[in-house]
Amino acid sequence: MGRIHRLPEDLANQIAAGEVVERPASVVKELVENAIDAQATRVVITAEYGGKKLIRVEDDGIGMDPEDARLCLDRHATSKIRRADDLAAIVTLGFRGEALPSIASVSHFRLRTRARGSESGTEIRVNAGIIESVVEAGGPEGTMIEVADVFYNLPARRKFLKSDAAEAAQVSRFVTQLALCYPEVGFTLTSSGKKIIAVPPVTSLSDRLYQLYGDRQDLIPVEREFGGVRLHGFIAALAEQGPVRGPQHVFVNRRIVKDRTIAHAILDSYSVATNKERSPEVHLFLEVPPDRVDVNVHPTKAEVRFREQSMIHEVVRRALGDALGRGPAPELTLRTSDVLPGHPMQPSIPGALAGGSFPSRWQAPSVRHEGSPHSFDTIVRHDGTAGTSVANDRAEPSSRTDVPNVRPMIALGQFRDTFIIAMDDEGLCIIDQHVAHERVLFERIMERLTTQSLESQRLLIPVVMELPPAERSALISKAEALARFGFEVEDFGGDSIKVTAVPALLDPNECDTALRALAEDLEGLDRGLRIEDSLKQIAATTACHAAVKAHYPLTLEKMHHILEELRATAYSTVCPHGRPVMLRITRREIEKNFDRI
Ligand SMILES: Nc1ncnc2c1ncn2[C@@H]1O[C@H](COP(=O)(O)OP(=O)(O)OP(=O)(O)O)[C@@H](O)[C@H]1O
Ligand SMILES: [Mg+2]
Repeated sequence: MGRIHRLPEDLANQIAAGEVVERPASVVKELVENAIDAQATRVVITAEYGGKKLIRVEDDGIGMDPEDARLCLDRHATSKIRRADDLAAIVTLGFRGEALPSIASVSHFRLRTRARGSESGTEIRVNAGIIESVVEAGGPEGTMIEVADVFYNLPARRKFLKSDAAEAAQVSRFVTQLALCYPEVGFTLTSSGKKIIAVPPVTSLSDRLYQLYGDRQDLIPVEREFGGVRLHGFIAALAEQGPVRGPQHVFVNRRIVKDRTIAHAILDSYSVATNKERSPEVHLFLEVPPDRVDVNVHPTKAEVRFREQSMIHEVVRRALGDALGRGPAPELTLRTSDVLPGHPMQPSIPGALAGGSFPSRWQAPSVRHEGSPHSFDTIVRHDGTAGTSVANDRAEPSSRTDVPNVRPMIALGQFRDTFIIAMDDEGLCIIDQHVAHERVLFERIMERLTTQSLESQRLLIPVVMELPPAERSALISKAEALARFGFEVEDFGGDSIKVTAVPALLDPNECDTALRALAEDLEGLDRGLRIEDSLKQIAATTACHAAVKAHYPLTLEKMHHILEELRATAYSTVCPHGRPVMLRITRREIEKNFDRI
């Protein structure tokens, strides 16, 4: 007799459950996705003990008639696809017909459903995949599914569940993400008796973000369309203070995914703009025609595969780069009449004018230049493979006219030897000379490093410096990287190092402080840091020390030079540390305050 036999259906389901259901949160995800596919406008989720004891999901969707109610528990029974062709362009969240039978095979399961417009409904109870009862039942239109004691019949799996609090956090993370994807659906999550999320339906993503996260001035909008692909959402602005890490939510066709291409593009865009943000908060929504993305590549559908991977990378990178660097300079609102003497105003921008205020970040940015294929000429330029068909060879990568927020400016003078006052047709600008010059030098250094090393100047008399041991060894261990910047440092025995050359752009008098700052920065970096990160850190510190200082008088020529250089950099409105480079008082603001409009 042969050794091979077919597994009974309930055992096959339990095996499938091992893939679909990792933990209570995955049950919640599957059930809520089913509710969304069933056109629910409200979904109510309840979890006890992090979902280990009980998960209940109720929706007001289309429901199921008695026949469908029975069928939905069969393996590979689905209403969402019919033929192989449908797999090529999936428009629903589910399509495999395996979530419900899998979940029911590893829990005490109860389904109550009533199809819209029908008199009565059906209730089915299942234990570990075995149907216990099917009865006619009342209840509202829509569907209610209860999943109790998940994995009770698979102790090996149950053992791997985390604490109630950790599982509850996962549940709330998934519900938050689904709520972000579907602002038009209302969600309620009650976890161990506490209401965690309660968001009624709204009409836009920004309203949903507001419901979930409150007023977030530190997020900036992203919006871009190219070749049938649309990216929109909100991302963390570059800020000097504030968290370096935040939730990273990426959705493709309203599906929660983890995608390495997109994650890489996010990191890339932040890393050229700043040396600080490492895992910034993003809420990004990518819409790709369903036939250009395969969603059937992962057991829990947590990953997708793009047909044009490098094009997607560029779309994300460019969109974020633009949003980060070319966001408009903060605008100052002049307040003349409402300021009473003796009532000092809070300086809202450190080191700059008191009494300024920022416009809300939630407002749509005024300058947009996508939509026409031309705005992507530059994308194509960086992406030899994907874009050659629409490439425009004559496109300038960052031509000056391409920088809408940084117009040519005329320097008028210097305020307190620290700020350049300049004007263009649209208003007056106050530029922090040190921060602006630092931005310019940082970009120049980074650009230079991609092809060659920086110019070096040999010191007439080598400098011997004493440093704390950890800093000294951090510096020596990075000697090779430092050499690319023009620094020549070597161990001088004891606590000392010897410096024989420094970058040409650095004033030799600055060499001591610059190297001490570098030693401190490099010592503070994670050991496992990628080489590019240390290079960036060195570039930022070098730029900071080579830049003109505050309280330093400048000639008009020098001011003009800084302004022109600034205009040519891609990220001209923030310094590598995320500080604003310039503030703007718009023409409108001036005219308004002089009662001219
Ligand atoms: N809340 C619901 N309201 C109405 N119908 C539902 C609901 N949940 C499930 N169904 C029906 O039951 C079927 C089976 O659901 P199940 O989640 O097992 O598979 P699926 O959603 O089709 O695919 P996948 O396994 O990829 O999730 C669905 O195709 C749908 O027709
Ligand atoms: Mg499903």
